[in-house]
Amino acid sequence: MKILLIGSGGREHAIAWRLRQDDPKLQLFTAPGNAGTGQLGVNLDLAATDLDGLVAWAQKEKPDLTVVGPEAPLCAGVVDRFEKAGLPIFGPNAAAARLEGSKVFTKNFLLKYNLPTAPGAGFNDSSSAYLYSQKHTTYPQVLKADGLAAGKGVIIAGSPHEAAQTIDRIMDQRIFGDAGRAMVIEEFLPGREMSVHVVTDGISHFILPISQDHKKLGEGDTGPNTGGMGAYAPAPFATADLLEQIGAQVVEPVLGAFRKEGIDFRGILYIGLIWTKSGPSILEFNVRGGDPETQVLLPLLETPLVEILQAVRERRLGKLKVSLNTKRAVTVVLAAGGYPGTPETGAVIEGLDLELPGTCVFHAGTKQAGKKVVSSGGRVLSVTAWADDLAKARELAYQRVAKIHFAGSQYRRDIAARLTLE
Ligand code: AMP
Ligand code: GLY
Repeated sequence: MKILLIGSGGREHAIAWRLRQDDPKLQLFTAPGNAGTGQLGVNLDLAATDLDGLVAWAQKEKPDLTVVGPEAPLCAGVVDRFEKAGLPIFGPNAAAARLEGSKVFTKNFLLKYNLPTAPGAGFNDSSSAYLYSQKHTTYPQVLKADGLAAGKGVIIAGSPHEAAQTIDRIMDQRIFGDAGRAMVIEEFLPGREMSVHVVTDGISHFILPISQDHKKLGEGDTGPNTGGMGAYAPAPFATADLLEQIGAQVVEPVLGAFRKEGIDFRGILYIGLIWTKSGPSILEFNVRGGDPETQVLLPLLETPLVEILQAVRERRLGKLKVSLNTKRAVTVVLAAGGYPGTPETGAVIEGLDLELPGTCVFHAGTKQAGKKVVSSGGRVLSVTAWADDLAKARELAYQRVAKIHFAGSQYRRDIAARLTLE
């Protein structure tokens, strides 16, 4: 089988690893990939958003399937372009990808269908945003740039002054560029956050184990927000009762509303949920697997990944029996010095070759430099381990982390720590 994989992060290396495990004869091409995907196949000199280049490559090389990892090409319409050219591809179309690409669109959608979400509204100009913000006097207040902002577009303001300043920075100064053409303002909801991944072909669906990200840079959830510093799955707090509530109060109403709205979603829907005192509330939709959540979900799959991807694409997910193993997985992200600001790059990474059963080091911001692997981005590695329980998986992950060294490396020592004690 020949597969084109689009993307270059830890999520994509995990997808590549899983596809290769399921099919040792796989011919894998990754655009643009990283040093990890380069060890499993061929990296192409094509950016993930170079739609013309990707279509041209696929027309010539005719992969059996193209798999899209990140949101940017999905929002830019890569699936529509491939389908128009008769090329098989996994992922939602551009109309469905708006659920991640526009927070105003999503807020309006959630409110229209009475889905659980924080009270709030969307704005196209800074003066109406400002008026709304000053009228709603519960703080903190959550301010979100409308478009894609690499996970940085959400700001929690603690005072009217900070809120006003943030509106100015997002909409007038455009600190997030065009992502700030519009914005959402909503109430802050306290509660426990969780990542709900739903695989759907638009007709049937199944919910993957509940996972949890660690978004803050520092231990004890302190410091600035990041793309995610670690994750684990399945979350022990996700009891059968909680799963039933997620299905009945969130997933089924959401998928029903997609159908009513004419959103044909085929792919992986990631629902960012917060569990408040009065139940679940939807913080966001992502239209692809989370990073680093994908790194802890794929080791739990028993069914070959490619079978799931193809069943979704061909709308026959209802006929596929998806099975999971009983493992628990933990991933610890190793980030570059300077991250989440400007990362230091070019550091030589030592300790990658060691084999430790039950672990895998997924590359993110890495590249091959001769025989060496060097850092090339903010999140550098995602060190993943799986075992029969979370405490063991966590111990293994940190054992593997301890063998890896590069200048400036930073990671959290408390990924999945609290939960193994509960
Ligand atoms: P988002 O990209 O919309 O998920 O927002 C990024 C992060 O900001 C979330 O993971 C939450 O930690 C936080 N957040 C967003 N909206 C809210 C809210 N209404 N209440 C509390 N925290 C929020
Ligand atoms: N882990 C957060 C994200 O993938 O958006």
